[in-house]
Amino acid sequence: MEFSIKTGSPEKQRTGCVVVGVYEGRRLTSSAQDIDDASGHFIAEVLRRGDHEGKAGTTLLLHNVPKVPADRVLLVGLGREREFGENTYRGALAATAKALKATGTTEAMVCLTDLPLKKRDTGWKVEQAVLCIMDGVYRFDRMKSKASETKRALRRVVLHVARRNEIAEGETAVIRGQAIAEGIALTKDLGNLPANICTPTYLAEQAQELAKRHGMKADILEQKDLEKLGMGSFLAVARGSRQPPKLIVLEYHGGARDAQPVAIVGKGVTFDTGGISIKPAPEMDEMKFDMCGAASVLGTMKAIALMKLPLNVIGVVPATENMPDGNAVKPGDIVTTMSGQTVEILNTDAEGRLILCDALTYVEKFKPAAVIDIATLTGAMVIALGHVATGMFSNSDTLAREVLAAGDSSWDRAWHMPMWDDYQEGLKSNFADIPNIAGRAGGSITAACFLSRFTKAYPWAHLDIAGTAWKSGAEKSATGRPVALLTHWLLRRAS
Ligand code: BES
Ligand code: MN
Ligand code: ZN
Repeated sequence: MEFSIKTGSPEKQRTGCVVVGVYEGRRLTSSAQDIDDASGHFIAEVLRRGDHEGKAGTTLLLHNVPKVPADRVLLVGLGREREFGENTYRGALAATAKALKATGTTEAMVCLTDLPLKKRDTGWKVEQAVLCIMDGVYRFDRMKSKASETKRALRRVVLHVARRNEIAEGETAVIRGQAIAEGIALTKDLGNLPANICTPTYLAEQAQELAKRHGMKADILEQKDLEKLGMGSFLAVARGSRQPPKLIVLEYHGGARDAQPVAIVGKGVTFDTGGISIKPAPEMDEMKFDMCGAASVLGTMKAIALMKLPLNVIGVVPATENMPDGNAVKPGDIVTTMSGQTVEILNTDAEGRLILCDALTYVEKFKPAAVIDIATLTGAMVIALGHVATGMFSNSDTLAREVLAAGDSSWDRAWHMPMWDDYQEGLKSNFADIPNIAGRAGGSITAACFLSRFTKAYPWAHLDIAGTAWKSGAEKSATGRPVALLTHWLLRRAS
């Protein structure tokens, strides 16, 4: 998709479709007003007849609007003007993408980026427009035998801004938005692929491909390498699988040669059956999404490479399946992690922390300035925050603030969860240094506490994306979160 920025009269555009907003109560936005004036109040008449009420998320497609050269005019409801905010803005863009997809137009001018929005500048509005439109037109039909027959696809989107002096900021935001959108699309594709295709080996191949295309370094550590490193915990999870585990290490060098890197580490369980502590059947298919943390690492690496960020970033992915088998790890088994700490595996379904702890010890060798891990770690996270915010835990208040700010500026929001010492109490084992689970209460927090035992060497944040990495139900799909958050965090660190 091609995006560009333009200012000037919407009523004079020769394009497939001009998109304008209408507030509830027949309040026209300035672009809608321009079209209304040029067309002899055609829009006011439509509203007066009650065919469009400006309700948030509704659209009405108009053809042959008098004296307007555009083939179509799309009215998009914005809800009440007083309540217009980030979510209604994004909702209007999503509705726009959906409506445009249903037409035969290949080109559109979207006059929503020119709307006033409290506390948000042109750059924010433009970036969000690119992200929402790309999200709206995303399709995953790689596994269908016939590509779904569609109309001509939307190819060019012009984003309208109110003033000439917003063009430069808008154009920078388009570049940023497109890079993030490409990262998100990769993350969604990897997440949506079934586990019989998206295996640890497949993820490793994709990482190598990405590295080749974007001038990064890719190292794939095999089972024997993991044994040499003493990753007894990661290897314990992989024991039950016929698929060999991989530790994927990507290095992006955009910064000074001697500049300390940051590291992002993603949980790559390509299918989580629970292992011997097997999960119940309903919705188990969704455990193909248990590698969405890994996918977000690859997506973010792609986004920053496309933007050529002046920063050094290491992306690490421990990838394995979690399967029951005669050879699988059993409840009560005790393993030695790369850090030397021993772990009593009381529940084989708490496998994410078992692979992450070794990866988090491994990244110490890069002397990272900060480390963020991303994991679909606990069902309890979904109970706590639902599908809106990602849970964020950190051993550094400075880093925590950076991550929350990146979540806000990318509208890929995270919420600060407590990780006080009090919560460490539950992690006691009679037989090993630590168990891999505590009681049911505060399950996401005790999981974070487990990881904190392995991240004492650097400032660290943990993102539990169990509730935000994918959507269930009719729109079942990976979301691409938290690529936008991570990219914004890296953008800030680079500047
Ligand atoms: N991948 C799951 C977490 C998960 C479950 C994410 C459902 C999204 C939806 C993780 O490996 C897991 O199984 N966690 C257990 C931990 C428990 C055994 C302490 C859980 O959340 O039930
Ligand atoms: Mn599990
Ligand atoms: Zn899991």
